[in-house]
Amino acid sequence: MGDVNLSVTLAGVTLKNPVIPASGTFGYGREFAALYDLNILGAFAWKGTTAQPRDGNPPPRIAETPGGMLNAIGLQNPGIDAVIREEVPNIARIFQGVVIANVGGFSVEEYAENCRKLEDVEQCRILEINISCPNVHAGGRNFGTDPKAAAGVTKAVRGVTRKPIFMKLTPNVSDITEIARACADAGADGLCLINTLLGMRIDLKTRRPVLANRTGGLSGGAVFPVALRMVWDVYEAVRLPIIGCGGVSSAEDVAEMMLAGASAVEIGAANLRNPYLCKEVVEALPDVCRRLGVANVAELTGAAHN
Ligand SMILES: Cc1cc2nc3c(=O)[nH]c(=O)nc-3n(C[C@H](O)[C@H](O)[C@H](O)COP(=O)(O)O)c2cc1C
Repeated sequence: MGDVNLSVTLAGVTLKNPVIPASGTFGYGREFAALYDLNILGAFAWKGTTAQPRDGNPPPRIAETPGGMLNAIGLQNPGIDAVIREEVPNIARIFQGVVIANVGGFSVEEYAENCRKLEDVEQCRILEINISCPNVHAGGRNFGTDPKAAAGVTKAVRGVTRKPIFMKLTPNVSDITEIARACADAGADGLCLINTLLGMRIDLKTRRPVLANRTGGLSGGAVFPVALRMVWDVYEAVRLPIIGCGGVSSAEDVAEMMLAGASAVEIGAANLRNPYLCKEVVEALPDVCRRLGVANVAELTGAAHN
Protein backbone atom coordinates (compact mmCIF):
# COMPACT_ATOMS: atom_id res chain seq x y z
CA MET A 1 0.00 0.00 0.00
CA GLY A 2 3.08 2.22 0.29
CA ASP A 3 2.65 5.80 1.36
CA VAL A 4 -1.15 6.05 1.30
CA ASN A 5 -3.09 5.63 4.54
CA LEU A 6 -6.36 3.86 3.75
CA SER A 7 -7.78 3.73 7.27
CA VAL A 8 -11.12 5.36 8.08
CA THR A 9 -13.27 5.58 11.19
CA LEU A 10 -17.00 5.02 11.57
CA ALA A 11 -18.42 6.34 14.84
CA GLY A 12 -15.16 5.58 16.65
CA VAL A 13 -14.57 2.19 14.99
CA THR A 14 -11.42 2.11 12.88
CA LEU A 15 -11.41 0.16 9.62
CA LYS A 16 -8.16 -0.50 7.80
CA ASN A 17 -9.76 0.71 4.58
CA PRO A 18 -13.21 1.98 3.49
CA VAL A 19 -14.21 -1.06 1.38
CA ILE A 20 -17.09 -3.19 2.72
CA PRO A 21 -19.07 -5.92 0.95
CA ALA A 22 -22.76 -4.96 1.29
CA SER A 23 -25.36 -6.98 3.15
CA GLY A 24 -27.03 -9.75 1.17
CA THR A 25 -24.27 -10.07 -1.41
CA PHE A 26 -21.63 -11.70 0.83
CA GLY A 27 -23.64 -14.12 2.99
CA TYR A 28 -21.75 -14.70 6.25
CA GLY A 29 -18.43 -14.75 4.41
CA ARG A 30 -18.09 -18.54 3.92
CA GLU A 31 -18.24 -18.70 0.12
CA PHE A 32 -15.95 -15.71 -0.40
CA ALA A 33 -13.38 -16.98 2.12
CA ALA A 34 -12.84 -19.92 -0.23
CA LEU A 35 -11.79 -17.43 -2.94
CA TYR A 36 -9.52 -15.00 -1.09
CA ASP A 37 -8.28 -13.94 2.35
CA LEU A 38 -11.07 -11.73 3.67
CA ASN A 39 -8.65 -9.90 5.94
CA ILE A 40 -7.90 -7.48 3.11
CA LEU A 41 -11.39 -5.96 3.62
CA GLY A 42 -12.17 -2.89 5.71
CA ALA A 43 -15.16 -4.77 7.19
CA PHE A 44 -18.00 -6.88 5.89
CA ALA A 45 -21.74 -6.55 6.36
CA TRP A 46 -23.49 -9.85 6.87
CA LYS A 47 -26.83 -10.93 5.39
CA GLY A 48 -29.92 -9.28 6.90
CA THR A 49 -30.71 -11.39 9.96
CA THR A 50 -34.14 -11.71 11.57
CA ALA A 51 -35.38 -13.35 14.78
CA GLN A 52 -36.84 -16.39 13.02
CA PRO A 53 -35.24 -18.41 10.20
CA ARG A 54 -36.69 -17.40 6.80
CA ASP A 55 -36.76 -19.16 3.43
CA GLY A 56 -37.34 -15.88 1.64
CA ASN A 57 -39.59 -15.39 -1.37
CA PRO A 58 -40.38 -18.07 -3.98
CA PRO A 59 -38.32 -18.06 -7.22
CA PRO A 60 -37.73 -16.47 -9.65
CA ARG A 61 -36.28 -13.82 -7.37
CA ILE A 62 -33.48 -12.35 -9.48
CA ALA A 63 -33.78 -10.55 -12.83
CA GLU A 64 -31.20 -8.82 -14.99
CA THR A 65 -31.66 -5.18 -15.95
CA PRO A 66 -29.59 -2.75 -18.03
CA GLY A 67 -26.61 -1.86 -15.84
CA GLY A 68 -27.95 -3.69 -12.82
CA MET A 69 -30.27 -6.30 -11.38
CA LEU A 70 -33.53 -6.75 -9.54
CA ASN A 71 -33.70 -8.97 -6.48
CA ALA A 72 -36.60 -10.10 -4.34
CA ILE A 73 -34.78 -12.47 -2.00
CA GLY A 74 -37.01 -11.53 0.94
CA LEU A 75 -34.49 -11.73 3.80
CA GLN A 76 -33.65 -15.43 3.56
CA ASN A 77 -31.52 -16.19 6.63
CA PRO A 78 -31.07 -18.85 9.33
CA GLY A 79 -32.34 -16.63 12.17
CA ILE A 80 -30.35 -14.75 14.80
CA ASP A 81 -29.82 -17.66 17.21
CA ALA A 82 -28.40 -19.95 14.52
CA VAL A 83 -26.23 -17.12 13.21
CA ILE A 84 -24.76 -16.51 16.66
CA ARG A 85 -24.29 -20.23 17.30
CA GLU A 86 -22.96 -21.31 13.89
CA GLU A 87 -21.86 -18.37 11.74
CA VAL A 88 -20.18 -16.16 14.35
CA PRO A 89 -17.57 -18.81 15.34
CA ASN A 90 -16.87 -19.50 11.67
CA ILE A 91 -16.51 -15.81 10.87
CA ALA A 92 -13.92 -15.52 13.66
CA ARG A 93 -11.88 -18.21 11.88
CA ILE A 94 -11.99 -16.66 8.40
CA PHE A 95 -11.89 -12.93 9.22
CA GLN A 96 -10.31 -11.02 12.09
CA GLY A 97 -11.63 -7.54 11.21
CA VAL A 98 -14.78 -5.57 11.91
CA VAL A 99 -18.10 -7.27 11.21
CA ILE A 100 -21.14 -5.12 10.53
CA ALA A 101 -24.22 -7.01 11.71
CA ASN A 102 -27.15 -6.20 9.42
CA VAL A 103 -30.33 -6.62 11.45
CA GLY A 104 -33.82 -7.06 9.97
CA GLY A 105 -37.13 -7.02 11.77
CA PHE A 106 -40.90 -7.04 11.46
CA SER A 107 -41.62 -5.07 14.64
CA VAL A 108 -39.84 -2.53 16.82
CA GLU A 109 -39.54 -5.22 19.51
CA GLU A 110 -37.93 -7.65 17.09
CA TYR A 111 -35.24 -5.17 16.04
CA ALA A 112 -34.46 -4.45 19.70
CA GLU A 113 -34.39 -8.13 20.66
CA ASN A 114 -32.07 -9.04 17.77
CA CYS A 115 -29.69 -6.22 18.71
CA ARG A 116 -29.75 -7.19 22.38
CA LYS A 117 -28.67 -10.72 21.43
CA LEU A 118 -25.71 -9.27 19.52
CA GLU A 119 -24.49 -7.18 22.45
CA ASP A 120 -21.98 -9.82 23.56
CA VAL A 121 -20.80 -10.72 20.06
CA GLU A 122 -17.57 -8.80 20.21
CA GLN A 123 -16.65 -9.00 16.52
CA CYS A 124 -19.89 -7.24 15.54
CA ARG A 125 -18.54 -3.78 16.21
CA ILE A 126 -21.31 -1.98 14.29
CA LEU A 127 -25.04 -2.72 14.01
CA GLU A 128 -26.61 -1.82 10.67
CA ILE A 129 -30.35 -1.63 11.09
CA ASN A 130 -32.17 -2.44 7.87
CA ILE A 131 -35.36 -0.39 7.88
CA SER A 132 -35.38 -0.41 4.10
CA CYS A 133 -35.91 -3.88 2.63
CA PRO A 134 -38.34 -3.51 -0.30
CA ASN A 135 -39.01 -7.24 -0.50
CA VAL A 136 -40.77 -8.09 2.75
CA HIS A 137 -44.24 -6.75 3.01
CA ALA A 138 -44.78 -6.29 6.73
CA GLY A 139 -41.13 -5.53 7.30
CA GLY A 140 -38.36 -2.96 7.11
CA ARG A 141 -39.92 -1.04 4.26
CA ASN A 142 -42.66 0.43 6.42
CA PHE A 143 -40.22 1.68 9.03
CA GLY A 144 -37.86 3.32 6.55
CA THR A 145 -40.44 5.37 4.68
CA ASP A 146 -41.91 7.16 7.69
CA PRO A 147 -39.82 9.49 9.88
CA LYS A 148 -41.73 8.62 13.07
CA ALA A 149 -41.43 4.90 12.50
CA ALA A 150 -37.73 5.22 11.61
CA ALA A 151 -37.17 7.19 14.82
CA GLY A 152 -39.11 4.57 16.79
CA VAL A 153 -36.82 1.74 15.65
CA THR A 154 -33.72 3.87 16.25
CA LYS A 155 -34.79 4.70 19.82
CA ALA A 156 -35.67 1.10 20.65
CA VAL A 157 -32.34 -0.18 19.39
CA ARG A 158 -30.47 2.66 21.12
CA GLY A 159 -32.01 1.52 24.37
CA VAL A 160 -30.53 -2.00 24.23
CA THR A 161 -27.00 -1.55 22.89
CA ARG A 162 -23.79 0.37 23.44
CA LYS A 163 -22.55 -0.51 19.95
CA PRO A 164 -22.69 2.15 17.22
CA ILE A 165 -25.96 1.89 15.30
CA PHE A 166 -26.11 2.76 11.61
CA MET A 167 -29.64 3.05 10.24
CA LYS A 168 -29.87 1.74 6.65
CA LEU A 169 -32.12 3.98 4.62
CA THR A 170 -34.32 3.37 1.62
CA PRO A 171 -34.21 5.55 -1.50
CA ASN A 172 -37.94 4.89 -2.05
CA VAL A 173 -39.04 8.14 -0.37
CA SER A 174 -39.59 11.67 -1.60
CA ASP A 175 -37.11 13.22 0.84
CA ILE A 176 -34.42 10.97 2.31
CA THR A 177 -33.02 13.81 4.44
CA GLU A 178 -36.23 13.85 6.47
CA ILE A 179 -35.72 10.19 7.44
CA ALA A 180 -32.01 10.82 8.05
CA ARG A 181 -32.79 13.68 10.46
CA ALA A 182 -35.38 11.60 12.30
CA CYS A 183 -32.82 8.82 12.85
CA ALA A 184 -30.14 11.31 13.92
CA ASP A 185 -32.48 12.96 16.44
CA ALA A 186 -33.46 9.55 17.83
CA GLY A 187 -29.85 8.63 18.63
CA ALA A 188 -28.33 6.93 15.56
CA ASP A 189 -24.52 7.00 15.39
CA GLY A 190 -24.43 6.82 11.61
CA LEU A 191 -26.39 6.13 8.44
CA CYS A 192 -26.00 3.67 5.59
CA LEU A 193 -27.52 4.53 2.23
CA ILE A 194 -28.96 3.42 -0.08
CA ASN A 195 -30.83 0.14 -0.12
CA THR A 196 -32.39 -0.90 -3.44
CA LEU A 197 -34.88 1.04 -5.56
CA LEU A 198 -38.27 -0.61 -6.00
CA GLY A 199 -38.70 -1.86 -9.56
CA MET A 200 -40.19 -4.59 -11.77
CA ARG A 201 -39.93 -6.34 -15.15
CA ILE A 202 -42.51 -8.15 -17.28
CA ASP A 203 -41.78 -11.23 -19.40
CA LEU A 204 -43.12 -10.50 -22.92
CA LYS A 205 -43.81 -14.19 -23.65
CA THR A 206 -45.83 -14.93 -20.53
CA ARG A 207 -47.09 -11.35 -20.05
CA ARG A 208 -46.40 -11.89 -16.37
CA PRO A 209 -43.99 -10.15 -14.00
CA VAL A 210 -40.56 -11.82 -14.17
CA LEU A 211 -40.24 -11.95 -10.38
CA ALA A 212 -42.63 -14.19 -8.45
CA ASN A 213 -42.82 -11.39 -5.87
CA ARG A 214 -43.89 -9.07 -8.76
CA THR A 215 -41.57 -6.29 -7.62
CA GLY A 216 -37.94 -6.31 -6.55
CA GLY A 217 -35.10 -4.02 -5.57
CA LEU A 218 -32.92 -2.46 -8.28
CA SER A 219 -29.20 -2.25 -7.60
CA GLY A 220 -25.91 -2.21 -9.50
CA GLY A 221 -24.17 0.40 -11.64
CA ALA A 222 -27.43 1.93 -12.87
CA VAL A 223 -28.26 3.28 -9.40
CA PHE A 224 -24.85 4.85 -8.68
CA PRO A 225 -25.81 8.47 -9.55
CA VAL A 226 -28.99 8.18 -7.46
CA ALA A 227 -27.08 6.85 -4.47
CA LEU A 228 -24.38 9.50 -4.87
CA ARG A 229 -26.94 12.29 -4.95
CA MET A 230 -28.61 10.97 -1.80
CA VAL A 231 -25.28 10.65 0.05
CA TRP A 232 -24.57 14.25 -0.98
CA ASP A 233 -27.93 15.47 0.34
CA VAL A 234 -27.74 13.55 3.62
CA TYR A 235 -24.16 14.75 4.21
CA GLU A 236 -25.46 18.33 4.00
CA ALA A 237 -28.45 17.57 6.25
CA VAL A 238 -26.97 15.69 9.23
CA ARG A 239 -23.63 15.50 11.06
CA LEU A 240 -23.36 11.71 11.17
CA PRO A 241 -20.88 9.40 9.45
CA ILE A 242 -22.31 7.87 6.28
CA ILE A 243 -21.65 4.49 4.72
CA GLY A 244 -22.27 5.13 1.01
CA CYS A 245 -23.76 2.28 -1.00
CA GLY A 246 -25.35 1.78 -4.40
CA GLY A 247 -23.79 0.90 -7.76
CA VAL A 248 -20.18 1.08 -6.65
CA SER A 249 -17.92 -1.13 -8.76
CA SER A 250 -14.44 0.43 -8.81
CA ALA A 251 -11.92 2.27 -6.64
CA GLU A 252 -12.81 5.43 -8.58
CA ASP A 253 -16.47 4.97 -7.56
CA VAL A 254 -15.34 4.61 -3.92
CA ALA A 255 -13.46 7.90 -4.19
CA GLU A 256 -16.47 9.61 -5.78
CA MET A 257 -18.81 8.32 -3.07
CA MET A 258 -16.41 9.60 -0.41
CA LEU A 259 -16.14 13.02 -2.08
CA ALA A 260 -19.94 13.20 -1.87
CA GLY A 261 -19.76 12.59 1.89
CA ALA A 262 -19.30 8.89 2.65
CA SER A 263 -16.80 7.84 5.33
CA ALA A 264 -16.80 4.26 4.04
CA VAL A 265 -18.37 2.49 1.07
CA GLU A 266 -20.30 -0.75 0.59
CA ILE A 267 -20.25 -2.79 -2.60
CA GLY A 268 -23.23 -5.06 -3.33
CA ALA A 269 -24.39 -6.29 -6.74
CA ALA A 270 -20.90 -5.93 -8.25
CA ASN A 271 -19.73 -8.82 -5.99
CA LEU A 272 -22.18 -11.09 -7.77
CA ARG A 273 -20.62 -10.35 -11.18
CA ASN A 274 -17.03 -10.54 -9.97
CA PRO A 275 -16.55 -12.23 -6.60
CA TYR A 276 -13.00 -10.83 -6.37
CA LEU A 277 -14.18 -7.24 -6.83
CA CYS A 278 -13.86 -5.96 -3.25
CA LYS A 279 -10.29 -7.27 -3.05
CA GLU A 280 -9.45 -5.65 -6.41
CA VAL A 281 -10.95 -2.33 -5.27
CA VAL A 282 -8.86 -2.35 -2.07
CA GLU A 283 -5.74 -3.06 -4.15
CA ALA A 284 -6.53 -0.26 -6.62
CA LEU A 285 -7.39 2.37 -4.02
CA PRO A 286 -3.86 3.58 -3.11
CA ASP A 287 -3.17 4.42 -6.73
CA VAL A 288 -6.45 6.32 -7.06
CA CYS A 289 -5.54 8.28 -3.91
CA ARG A 290 -2.11 9.12 -5.33
CA ARG A 291 -3.71 10.36 -8.55
CA LEU A 292 -6.09 12.51 -6.48
CA GLY A 293 -3.16 13.82 -4.44
CA VAL A 294 -4.33 12.57 -1.03
CA ALA A 295 -2.09 10.79 1.48
CA ASN A 296 -5.05 9.71 3.64
CA VAL A 297 -8.15 8.34 1.94
CA ALA A 298 -10.24 9.82 4.78
CA GLU A 299 -9.42 13.30 3.44
CA LEU A 300 -11.80 12.59 0.57
CA THR A 301 -14.89 12.44 2.79
CA GLY A 302 -17.12 15.37 1.91
CA ALA A 303 -14.32 17.14 0.05
CA ALA A 304 -16.61 17.95 -2.89
CA HIS A 305 -18.72 20.19 -0.59
CA ASN A 306 -17.49 23.72 -0.09
C1 LIG B 1 -29.17 -10.14 -3.73
C2 LIG B 1 -29.24 -8.97 -2.77
C3 LIG B 1 -29.62 -9.18 -1.45
C4 LIG B 1 -29.67 -8.10 -0.55
N1 LIG B 1 -30.00 -8.34 0.75
C5 LIG B 1 -29.96 -7.31 1.65
C6 LIG B 1 -30.20 -7.52 3.05
O1 LIG B 1 -30.42 -8.66 3.50
N2 LIG B 1 -30.17 -6.45 3.90
C7 LIG B 1 -29.88 -5.17 3.44
O2 LIG B 1 -29.85 -4.23 4.24
N3 LIG B 1 -29.64 -4.95 2.12
C8 LIG B 1 -29.66 -5.97 1.23
N4 LIG B 1 -29.40 -5.73 -0.09
C9 LIG B 1 -29.10 -4.35 -0.53
C10 LIG B 1 -27.59 -4.11 -0.65
O3 LIG B 1 -26.94 -4.30 0.60
C11 LIG B 1 -27.33 -2.67 -1.16
O4 LIG B 1 -27.84 -1.73 -0.23
C12 LIG B 1 -27.97 -2.40 -2.52
O5 LIG B 1 -27.94 -3.55 -3.33
C13 LIG B 1 -27.30 -1.25 -3.27
O6 LIG B 1 -25.94 -1.50 -3.50
P1 LIG B 1 -25.37 -2.14 -4.88
O7 LIG B 1 -25.91 -1.32 -6.00
O8 LIG B 1 -23.87 -2.06 -4.74
O9 LIG B 1 -25.87 -3.55 -4.93
C14 LIG B 1 -29.35 -6.79 -1.01
C15 LIG B 1 -28.98 -6.61 -2.35
C16 LIG B 1 -28.90 -7.67 -3.23
C17 LIG B 1 -28.46 -7.41 -4.65
